[in-house]
Amino acid sequence: MSTTSFPRVWAVSLLVVAADVLDLLSTTVTNVAAPTVVRDLGASWLGASYTLAMGSLGTVAGVAALAAFGWHQARTNRPPAQCGAAGRQRGRLRHRVDGLSGDRHAERSVQRRFARSARIHIRTNHGRLSMILITGGRGAVAAHLLALLLQADQPVRVASSNPGELQVPDGITAVTCNLRDPATFPAALSGVTEVFLYAEASHIAEFVDAAVTAGVKHVVLLSSAGVLNPDAAGDPLAKSHLDVETALLTSPLATTLLRPGSFAGNAGAWAWPIKAGRPVSLPYPGSHTDPIHERDIAEVAFTVLTDPHHQGRRLHLTGPESLTFSEQIEQLAEITGRPITVNHVTREEWKQEMADYIPGPYADPLLDYWQAHDGRPVPLTDTVEQLTGHAPRTFATWARDHATAFIE
Ligand SMILES: NC(=O)c1ccc[n+]([C@@H]2O[C@H](COP(=O)([O-])OP(=O)(O)OC[C@H]3O[C@@H](n4cnc5c(N)ncnc54)[C@H](OP(=O)(O)O)[C@@H]3O)[C@@H](O)[C@H]2O)c1
Repeated sequence: MSTTSFPRVWAVSLLVVAADVLDLLSTTVTNVAAPTVVRDLGASWLGASYTLAMGSLGTVAGVAALAAFGWHQARTNRPPAQCGAAGRQRGRLRHRVDGLSGDRHAERSVQRRFARSARIHIRTNHGRLSMILITGGRGAVAAHLLALLLQADQPVRVASSNPGELQVPDGITAVTCNLRDPATFPAALSGVTEVFLYAEASHIAEFVDAAVTAGVKHVVLLSSAGVLNPDAAGDPLAKSHLDVETALLTSPLATTLLRPGSFAGNAGAWAWPIKAGRPVSLPYPGSHTDPIHERDIAEVAFTVLTDPHHQGRRLHLTGPESLTFSEQIEQLAEITGRPITVNHVTREEWKQEMADYIPGPYADPLLDYWQAHDGRPVPLTDTVEQLTGHAPRTFATWARDHATAFIE
């Protein structure tokens, strides 16, 4: 039953009935008291009885009509303000916002998910079998997500801006989807019900239109915890993620946002100097990050794609520990068995060294972030554990999984 429309209807009903009864009483009193009316009708008691009878009939009819209206509203669970296309859209948005709370609910659904067999078949609202499109197929998260969905026998299609470089198992379709080229959207999205999307802001409006036209119901966005910073709109990296989030949240598509902190994989940038036996240049060796394993992000994506209870949530994902860059280097040295030295450089020296990989407009916000977290641990969340049923993998696990990249 609607919690808002039903009481409102009854309040209005009571007011109307009260007004009707007052009107009836005043008319009756007037008829009894007024000599003209008494004379006109021949006898005061006759006029009063006539008015009383007519008034009662009207009151009973009014009560019956209003009760029927109230019952109809309650039964159809439809607030009057929610009728029509605009109302339906408001209802959807409210439903989406409601879905963002309730972490206890998430815990329960994770328990259910892990109790189920790996063979999950999800259906959309319209009874169609789902087809999941993974964009950014060459990315680390996308590759793990593909493996998880295949393991669970989910219908899946993988897309890349360069599908020729993808290695996909037999029977899996690899298509072109370049998020900077809208001409590639319709074919990639044809027959798709859910999308795992990398955040590329340049043509997000066209992507949303193509997805709605194709009948997509749900998008899971790989966004960034950077959007949570108060000055996100002024940071080019965070802003691009924010723009994609906004385009999706204001569209008719159900949208789930994954907002990871720092990828453990960022340590891959140190592979070359470590392999070459050279020091790693760091402008803020004491800066903290919350390294998260790409496999954990993929597992969270798998959960939200296969369990509709999580649709619409905004998930801030972190690794299990806040570590300084120096601590990460120490762990890498221990796991790879190689001594690694750190060269403490200035901001400008670091920018020059990285100029070919990180353009200036992106380098400064990154340096500002590291400076802000120099000696300050990053707040952690337990969202990965809630959604996957296990603690997030440590940085040491990531380093063991990728040790060869630092040795060979
Ligand atoms: N690194 C971090 O600490 C961090 C933190 C928070 C959020 N993120 C976000 O996570 C995402 C992946 O980050 P990453 O550094 O780990 O990258 P990555 O694993 O190296 O993957 C880069 C991905 O971007 C896709 N891509 C690039 N250009 C594309 C285009 N024009 N059209 C479609 N896909 C395109 C690539 O897919 P194809 O080349 O196969 O198309 C690839 O999957 C980024 O959106 C990043 O902002 C990263």
